[in-house]
Amino acid sequence: MTMSSSAATEPTPAFPIPAGVYAETVLEVEHYTERLFRFRITRPREFRFRSGEFVMIGLPNAEKPVYRAYSLASPSWDEQIEFFSIKVPGGPLTEHLQKIQPGDTVLMRKKATGTLVLDALLPGQHLYLFSTGTGIAPFASLIRDPETYEKFEKVILTQTCREVAELQYGEHLIEQIRADEMLSEIVGDKLVYYTTVTREPYPRPDRITSLMRDGRLYADVGMPPLSPETDRAMICGSMAMLNETRELCVAAGLVEGANSAPGTFVVERAFVD
Ligand code: A2P
Repeated sequence: MTMSSSAATEPTPAFPIPAGVYAETVLEVEHYTERLFRFRITRPREFRFRSGEFVMIGLPNAEKPVYRAYSLASPSWDEQIEFFSIKVPGGPLTEHLQKIQPGDTVLMRKKATGTLVLDALLPGQHLYLFSTGTGIAPFASLIRDPETYEKFEKVILTQTCREVAELQYGEHLIEQIRADEMLSEIVGDKLVYYTTVTREPYPRPDRITSLMRDGRLYADVGMPPLSPETDRAMICGSMAMLNETRELCVAAGLVEGANSAPGTFVVERAFVD
């Protein structure tokens, strides 16, 4: 598989490529619901990032393209780059982005950054990854990175969505990991995917915050309640979810960290909403 960008085969964009950005080719697009889709693009050879980081992306459809922050959903070792996106009605980027097809060009700024990285966490035993909707994207990267399993004995990925169909991306991801010979061996039984759905009938029809509060999450996954001694957490979702989950982490004694000062939990907003 050669995944490097090949300018020669790319269609000529309507506008010149701005300085400081990569122009990459769309390889694959998959739509899950009216609100969600994923796509893969070529990866520039020299582009480096840490699993869990985000990057600014745009389309070459205007002289001054609109850029939005997108979590890199693929792990840092992957030869391609994957994104998981919401479709915002009337959204200046996603209105167009949702129509991309293989062969189209996507612009990507050259610098990746973010706080949902293993470096921002102190060593621990159990890693909780709390997400809602497209907030799963940075964790899609981290759960496919062997380093996550070198650092943690147990990785609990939680995702809360409005509808059952919105869990497809995450479910597919877990299936892919299980089907991958190398990754499945590394992951073993360390990874737990814990799903909840709030606006349709589902075995767990609750927000993750309710399940943390009443302890059902911990009982369900067979773990003791959240503790700064053993547990680390990352949070990615809407502002409301992020604030509420942060409060629960703080109440449990966890301390927010950053790249410059690692802590026992880190947060990042799920960007395009
Ligand atoms: P709910 O359906 O009860 O609002 P959204 O698409 O709006 O970002 O929501 C994604 C999921 O996050 C929904 O299931 C939603 O539940 C849930 N959610 C919204 N606010 C919070 C919150 N403060 N804490 C936890 N989950 C939340």
